[in-house]
Amino acid sequence: MAEDLIIVSGSKTEKYEAVIPQIKALIEGEEDLIANLANITSALKEQFGWLWVGFYLVKKDELVLGPFQGPVACTRIRKGRGVCGISWEKAESIIVPDVEAFPGHIACSSLSKSEIVVPIIRNEKVVGVLDIDSELHDQFDEMDRYFLEQLIAAISI
Ligand code: SME
Repeated sequence: MAEDLIIVSGSKTEKYEAVIPQIKALIEGEEDLIANLANITSALKEQFGWLWVGFYLVKKDELVLGPFQGPVACTRIRKGRGVCGISWEKAESIIVPDVEAFPGHIACSSLSKSEIVVPIIRNEKVVGVLDIDSELHDQFDEMDRYFLEQLIAAISI
């Protein structure tokens, strides 16, 4: 199977509508979680060009860095800490238009200006989060939340 990703230009919706079926095709039938998460981060970064796209997985009482694309990042995040830890605690997606205005934000890269975190919830428990950072302010909205939550629902974890 060819693994080329078709990158499209256009609106954010058009980009999501193009990339999500390709991601689903890539991960369908593959049971290895790390492989699938790695391909998801790559496909999203390739399509959207964001600064950082990655997963943190719940291990014991912390989020631990998983597959990602972008600059090196902090390895462990405690529940309730930073955008990721709060998304875990509240079991809900969080959109941060300006990271400097978000109390408790953890700055892994000084280049990050806005962020979205989407929790992965299975059997009513958060098992990880998808975290995306942009170098520009105000890059994420309800549209991103909608499509990314859909994408997260397709992951076998
Ligand atoms: N900014 C995140 C930390 C993870 S990095 O952005 C990759 C937070 O506040 O939880």
